[in-house]
Amino acid sequence: RGTSQFNDQGHLEIGGCDTVELAEQFGTPLYIMDEWMIRQRMREYMQAFQKTGLAFQVAYASKAFSTLAMCRLVAEEGLHLDVVSDGELFTALKAGFPAERIYFHGNNKTREELEMGLDAGIGWFVVDNFNELSMLSSLAYKKGLTARVLLRTTPGVEAHTHTYIQTGQEDSKFGFNLASGQVHKAVERCLQYKGLKVDGFHCHIGSQIFETDGFRLAVQKLVTLSEECRNLFGFQTRILNLGGGFGIRYNEEDRPMSVDQYIFAIAEEIRSGFSEKDIPQVVVEPGRSIVGEAGTTLYRVGTIKQIPGVRKYISVDGGMNDNPRPALYRASYEAILANRTSEQPEETVSVAGKLCESGDMLIWDIDLPHVKSGDLLAVTCTGAYNYSMANNYNRLRRPAVVFVRDGYSDVVVRRESMEDLIKNDRIPNRLLTPNG
Ligand code: LLP
Repeated sequence: RGTSQFNDQGHLEIGGCDTVELAEQFGTPLYIMDEWMIRQRMREYMQAFQKTGLAFQVAYASKAFSTLAMCRLVAEEGLHLDVVSDGELFTALKAGFPAERIYFHGNNKTREELEMGLDAGIGWFVVDNFNELSMLSSLAYKKGLTARVLLRTTPGVEAHTHTYIQTGQEDSKFGFNLASGQVHKAVERCLQYKGLKVDGFHCHIGSQIFETDGFRLAVQKLVTLSEECRNLFGFQTRILNLGGGFGIRYNEEDRPMSVDQYIFAIAEEIRSGFSEKDIPQVVVEPGRSIVGEAGTTLYRVGTIKQIPGVRKYISVDGGMNDNPRPALYRASYEAILANRTSEQPEETVSVAGKLCESGDMLIWDIDLPHVKSGDLLAVTCTGAYNYSMANNYNRLRRPAVVFVRDGYSDVVVRRESMEDLIKNDRIPNRLLTPNG
């Protein structure tokens, strides 16, 4: 359960499904999501917190991968949900996700988005700035509602993959700047403004983080902030939300901590920062680490181009439209031949997409068995920020997404059709009449 393996025919199997059969049945490119692995990752977070004895919430950051089926899984596993737009909120609500378990993020939420959140009765608005604070207050007041609020802070901790620095993040479009006293001022306004109830603070220090020091430092900063706000305003922090960013293993070299280690470190800092009776509820917002490793993209190999003495390109039937991360972030991925897993690597090749850009390369220099046109290439760890960042560049159609589990495979997003590509296009009348 929740694992991939190789079957007797040497085919890659995920969730008990033969990927060669999945490719035949659903076509390629295809996003395959291992449902058990997603569930297991969610449970790992919940169990890690349970061990700490703290009051907690785990909010899945739906920007990593949001579909109706995914929202159902998150709801079923008892997590909260983080949304960052009207579209993500709409998806969650359509899936029947309990509104009171939703956090609404964003540095430029529109009036319409705030109203949508208020009308739906979402749990919390993570308020980012003073404009939002006053707009939310007046909207809530007019509707006779009270909006629950966390204040997003930029605590001056910026985590990188392997290390963290203490100033960089202050220059950020997100959140109230901590060092200059903006957060304190925001708390004061929350306490004055009508229609708002402020529960605590939020920060997010980065993504794909491999160590715990940055999280510890962020907690320390929020502990100090909480003390100051208690002294200044008699304000009691009830919730501290530490954001997401927990790293995953894309490649051999990646060395993330375990979920237990991340959560333990956060919990330890919380306990040492607050007296027992004042310990707030702790929230984290993992996205990548819930879905990243559960996703695999299956491509069909087409063109093969050997430049003697230089490089061998193998082209697949997708590319930067279904996975823009290599082009955007120089992200690196691993892959195997899904139809010939038992064969040893024989050659070094580079995997190209089919889009009209030289930068459309999925993987540079990977060792594979002798690759032939028609082979199936499985690129691993594509569950996070792949489907959610997919686009129609070159008018390619976004692939289907299937959930696999115990030998069952279910399409949770159907492949886009040609008609989908033009469904919003209009030809103005004057272009329909000859000669304008
Ligand atoms: N909470 C907040 C407020 C965030 O901004 C993010 C991610 C998360 C939670 C979830 O972070 P995670 O656990 O997934 O690292 N497109 C980029 C990643 C952008 C992340 C933005 N914020 C990528 O493909 O690597």
